[in-house]
Amino acid sequence: MSMSQSYTALRPEFREALKEAARLFPTPFYAYDLQVILERLERLQKAFPGAEIFYAMKANPRLGLLRRLLERGAFVEAVSLGEVYRAYKAGFQRNEVLLNGPVKTPAMLEELNRIGIPILGLDSLADLRRAIKMLPKAKVLLRVNPDLPIATHDHLATGRGESKFGILPEEVGAALEQARHSHLEVLGLHIHLGSALEHPEDYSAGYRVMDELYRTHGPFQVMNLGGGFGLGLDLGKVGTQAISLARKHSAELWLEPGRYLVAEAGVLVTRCWGVKRTRRNYLLIDAGMSQLIRPMLYGAIHPVEPLYKNPLKETYDLAGPACESGDVLARDITLPEPQEGDLLAILQGGAYASSMSSNYLDTPRPAELLWTGQNWEVIRRQQTWEALLEDEL
Ligand code: LLP
Repeated sequence: MSMSQSYTALRPEFREALKEAARLFPTPFYAYDLQVILERLERLQKAFPGAEIFYAMKANPRLGLLRRLLERGAFVEAVSLGEVYRAYKAGFQRNEVLLNGPVKTPAMLEELNRIGIPILGLDSLADLRRAIKMLPKAKVLLRVNPDLPIATHDHLATGRGESKFGILPEEVGAALEQARHSHLEVLGLHIHLGSALEHPEDYSAGYRVMDELYRTHGPFQVMNLGGGFGLGLDLGKVGTQAISLARKHSAELWLEPGRYLVAEAGVLVTRCWGVKRTRRNYLLIDAGMSQLIRPMLYGAIHPVEPLYKNPLKETYDLAGPACESGDVLARDITLPEPQEGDLLAILQGGAYASSMSSNYLDTPRPAELLWTGQNWEVIRRQQTWEALLEDEL
């Protein structure tokens, strides 16, 4: 299933700025348009008035972005110790960080005791037992698996009964019983249905499950309805339902959007280095699976915008530099014929691109640049060759 039905073209100002950046920085690099991130945050705040937004930092954890979101009142959702550590570094306080994740080891909890315990999303009965045993005092939410047929890529559905996340609705009563007899403070329940969701009906179904749970087990201070907003989702509809559900149960509404905030603000910029005609028409580019694994992992389709002109057009597959047949970032796209060195912007590259990048084939992590509207800020410099060897003995 394709996960990028909607497609917003680059703002002309940003597009021009990208060409400038490419004169200063080697390709490939990631670049982000701050204005788009802030505009998405406003859209969310409008669609869900009064909701607390915990940005899912897994989508893009750069400190330079986290700090911008912190300034505008967002909190963060983390899923690993590393992310919690980073969130604290960015300046978030303990009660502004929500740590989810399906496996919390004793070592993790020990470390949290040391660096400061954030709000915890408990994901299993084992998680709950361990938190009771190992943490002094903590605010927690219980994640519920609503057991629904969520419509998205199999890897991205988390609210289906067969998924590994959360406890089943029928286990909630017993889990709450345990938690309420402990020193943990249960703030509320949490669902996160999946990622890249395009259908409001999935949210309606999830919200019905929450409605029932809050009726049976409430009241709670908080209702966490997760993230997952696809780029083409009608936020208006989902927002109205979420707000009225939280109001009905007199709970604070919490959300955990990742992709929606940053995906369309970012691009991966790459250069064209030749054409190879085999049984397919390959355009050879200097970015690939190390910088953008989503096409290979989820069959994701990222729109591509050329930053050059030529009236002659052709249809290409974009071949990356890795020694793997699957390292093709897009298939069958029609582009103006490029000259050697011409630039392409691979769109929707602000979420889950840099955060899922790897050093496969000793590929250094590219630079990441933020366009503030006035200038380019380097929010992460290109990794050095030395840094690739640094941890080896
Ligand atoms: N909350 C929880 C508990 C999550 O697990 C996730 C994402 C989010 C919030 C944020 O979801 P979003 O709003 O970004 O859809 N690597 C995949 C996406 C994996 C999402 C994992 N969890 C991709 O590249 O599409």
